[in-house]
Formats: sequence, C-alpha cells, structure tokens
Amino acid sequence: MAIHETAAWAALKEHAASLQGAHLRDMMRDEDRCAALTAERDGILLDYSRQRVTNETMDMLFNLAEAADLAGKRAAMFTGEKINNTEGRAVMHAALRAPREATMNVDGKNVVPDVHSVLDKIEDFSARVRSGVFKGCTGKPLRNIVSIGIGGSYLGPEFVFEALKCEPAAQGASTGRTLRFLANVDPVDVSRAISGLNPEETLVVVVSKTFTTAETMLNARTMKDWLITSIKGKTAAEITSQHIVAVSTSDKLVQDFGVDAANIFGFWDWVGGRYSVCSAVSVLPIALHYGFDIARRFLDGAHDMDNHFLNEPPRQNIPVLMGLLGVWNSTFLGHGARALLPYSQALLRFAAHIQQVDMESNGKRVAQDGSVLPFDAGEIGFGEPGTNGQHSFYQLIHQGGVFPADFGGYCTSQCPVLLEGDPVPNHEEFMSNFFAQPDVLAYAKTAEELEKEGVPEWFRPHKVFTGNRPSLSLLFPKLDAFSCGQLLAIYEHRTAVQGFVWGLNSFDQWGVELGKKLATKVRTALSTARTSGGDVSEGFNPSTSTLMTYYLANGA
Ligand code: F6P
Repeated sequence: MAIHETAAWAALKEHAASLQGAHLRDMMRDEDRCAALTAERDGILLDYSRQRVTNETMDMLFNLAEAADLAGKRAAMFTGEKINNTEGRAVMHAALRAPREATMNVDGKNVVPDVHSVLDKIEDFSARVRSGVFKGCTGKPLRNIVSIGIGGSYLGPEFVFEALKCEPAAQGASTGRTLRFLANVDPVDVSRAISGLNPEETLVVVVSKTFTTAETMLNARTMKDWLITSIKGKTAAEITSQHIVAVSTSDKLVQDFGVDAANIFGFWDWVGGRYSVCSAVSVLPIALHYGFDIARRFLDGAHDMDNHFLNEPPRQNIPVLMGLLGVWNSTFLGHGARALLPYSQALLRFAAHIQQVDMESNGKRVAQDGSVLPFDAGEIGFGEPGTNGQHSFYQLIHQGGVFPADFGGYCTSQCPVLLEGDPVPNHEEFMSNFFAQPDVLAYAKTAEELEKEGVPEWFRPHKVFTGNRPSLSLLFPKLDAFSCGQLLAIYEHRTAVQGFVWGLNSFDQWGVELGKKLATKVRTALSTARTSGGDVSEGFNPSTSTLMTYYLANGA
C-alpha cells in the first residue's frame, strides 16, 4: 500500500488540521512537553520543542515510520540490498567508515577489506607526499593540492576542509600547505584555483566517480595543460605521473588520461556521488592537507552516528527524529523549504553540501515503483552561518513566509577569544544569537504588547511578529574532525529517512540528465557556427537561437 493510503497518513492529516490554531508560545509553556522533545547522544543535544508538534504528533509520526517500514528499509540499506532500484545498486556509504573488523556485504562479498585497502593506500601516499618522499617531477615537495570535481565530488570535501581549517590539530598539521577546489567549468574558477601557485609544487587530484563528467574532464585537461606548459625540461608523461592523481571508479578512463595506475584511488558503484564524502573523494585531499589521522577521526565520527542511527529507538534517534520532522513540516504543514543555520563560520559550506545531499536525493516526482506521488516530496534547503544570515534573509524568516529552521551550534569555539575588559568571550556573544533566534521565531510580538510599549498605532503592524515558526536546535560540544563526521552522517541519514517514508528512491538523480544532453547539443551547435560560420537557428526554439546568436555576435 502506498504511504499516502495508510491510516497513519490519514491520521496525521487530520491531526495537522486540528493543530492549526495551536501556537508555539502556548506549547512552550508545557515543561513536560519541552523535556520530552529532546534527544541526546554523546554530548550532542537535539531540542525539537520548537517544532509544531505534541507528544501525540510524535507518536503518530512513529506510526507513519512503521507503516513505511522505515526499520526494514534502513536494514536493507545497511545489509547491501539494491535499494537504488533504477540503477540496480546497493547504497552502502556506511561501509566507507566501518572499522576494519566489520563485515558489510554487497552481492555476498564483504566490502570492508576493499575499503581499508584504499584507506591504507591513502595513508601511505599522503604520508609520502607530506614528508616529501613523493615529490614533484623537478624535485620540489608537493605542498599545494588542487582537487578537481563537481557536485558530490566537490561539495562534501570542501565542507569538511572548511570545517577543520581553524580546528587546532588540523590547522597545525596543515601549516605551509594549500588545498583548493576547482569545480565550475567557468574558466574563472581555473584562474582562481591556480592563482599564486607554483606548478612545480602542485599536485592535482581529479575526483570523478564516472570520469566522464564534462565539467571535471575539461578542468582536468586545462590543469594538465597548465602543468605541462609551465614546468620546463620534463616530458608530459613525467609531469602527469608526478603531478596528477585520481579518485574514480573507472581505472581504465583514468589511465587513458595518463595517470599512473599506482596513483588511482578507487571507490565503488555502491557509493552514490553525493554520499561519497567518506570515500577517497574527500579522504584523499583531506589526508594530503591535514594528515591521515584527522581524516580517520572524521570517518570514526560518521561511523559513530551510523551506529546511533541503526540501533537507537526512534524517540532517541537523532536522524530519525529530524527526518520525520522534515516530513511533518513539508508534507503535513505545507512548508516546502528549510533553512540550515549553523552558528559556526567554519560551517560556511555546510548548507551547500546538504542542499545537494537533500535536494538531489529527495527532489523526486515519483515513488520507487514509478507511480506519481500525490504530494510534493523534497524540501528546498538553503542557508548561511549565523550571525551573517541574520543580516540577510532572516527578515523574511521572521516576518515573511514560514520556513522551518535547523539551528546548529557548539559549546566551545575552535578559536576562543576573550578581549581584556570584555565581560563575555567572543564565542558567547556569538552563541547568544543561537539561543535567541529560535525564541524570536517561536514566540510572537503582538500589537497589544507594542501598544503597551508605547509604539504609535501606525507603526505597530510593521513591528508585529506572528511567531509560531518552527525550528530545531542541535548543540554539539565542539567542532573537530570526529564531530564533523557525526554531523555529516546525521544529515545523510535524515535525508534517507525522509525518502524512505515518502517511498521514493533517494539514491538516483535522473533529473540532472536532460540538462547535460541539451548542453552537449548547444556546445556542438556553437562550435559548428564558430568554425563554419553557420547559424544556430536549426533545432532550437526562437528564444534560445536568438540568445545564442547574440552571444556569438558579441563574445570575444
Ligand atoms: O550532479 C549530477 C552528478 O551525477 C552527481 O550526482 C555527482 O556527484 C556529480 O554529478 C559528479 O559526478 P562524477 O563524480 O561522476 O564526476
């Protein structure tokens, strides 16, 4: 039975209607309710009392999870069943962070030894590069890394890199080193990536699961060309073998590109692109820049959260709770977008990564069996670190449309500062906002209150806050490699929970294919028009051919 036909779904619909008049300001007065709507794991505290839910709502959401066979689907994922049915693939990113002694089977084969053999290879290679044993072809140590990749082969590694940049252990381990990312096929991105770098000291890591992605392949050829034309007195083969390595599932295509077989770091088709953060996709660049021990701690954190997700009962299970609340907010309360608001500048690329994880996974119109979903699945995810966001889009969050928000914060700063004579450390000033904003969203400021404060009548409507805007707060002890892994896994599993409940396939991405095909057709037409002077009206609608003609006539 489809999930929207179950009694659990109907009960939630009715319940949502009955809660319409309920206001968070009143719900927050119930101390027992507030205490019940929390979960804790190893110092991570989730407080979801500012969601528009009661204990009864949560019980009904757990019933929905049962009706959707959430536990069965989760088990199927962890046991290597081919739950990505349209690509005939298992979904086993949890195996990427499993300890050496674990057993996780895909097609009857334990994949953990393969995972650890790549990790061992990364440990060895990164140690040789960092110690200067593996050098550039002119004998210089390789202290600059440019990691080329896009989508899942870029966003996660960049999120992890930024998250750890000012973490004391990682910062110390990366002194004198540079790690940059090259994702966009816009040549400006190449220019930004190589600016100020000495090619003789630069190692390029080409990251592409398929090794066919147009943007990555063009950027890889451009960087290869930069290395070959800038490094003098060496052959192209010598330069390529010492300055380009690759992360991919396709050994053959990588070798055809000229990379030494010894310098290929593999992964597997049971790892989806946006779920590949714990593979060599980011473990290699992170280990090269921060050292392998930091990368290992990151994997351990993600594994810790895998265990939590797999074993904790729903009421204490952070990803399950967050996933069910996502379903509640979007499907039953009609909020189609969610703000991701980390109170940590180090998480400046977190929203961008989770946006891909979530929107590429659950932005679907059909269920796993191909039937059209009679509800909008997926949520729009967007965000910025606080407090910067407060001076940008929070105005709309407070007084415009209603968007549930995920607040994230840390008890201890990565870089504590206390100015002489200042009463509070800088981190406390920062975190005061983390505590204040959810209450501003939840509670209201009424016209009556404004009147009592002496606000003139004409001005009151502008200062009214309707409140009743849901949020949740996730508070971690500190942001280090381990907790960064935990955070990643929370959000990966949260996305899976929503997809499992909605009954769709969160692990394919057919929606991005058509655009790729059309871009190929445009590329061919533009290059034919440039070389043979033909026009571009054939095969395109009048609007597109006018735009292309204008572009050809006015471009350099
Ligand atoms: O955006 C579509 C996509 O297929 C992502 O899922 C993937 O992470 C990205 O392109 C890059 O793919 P690849 O790693 O094969 O270059």
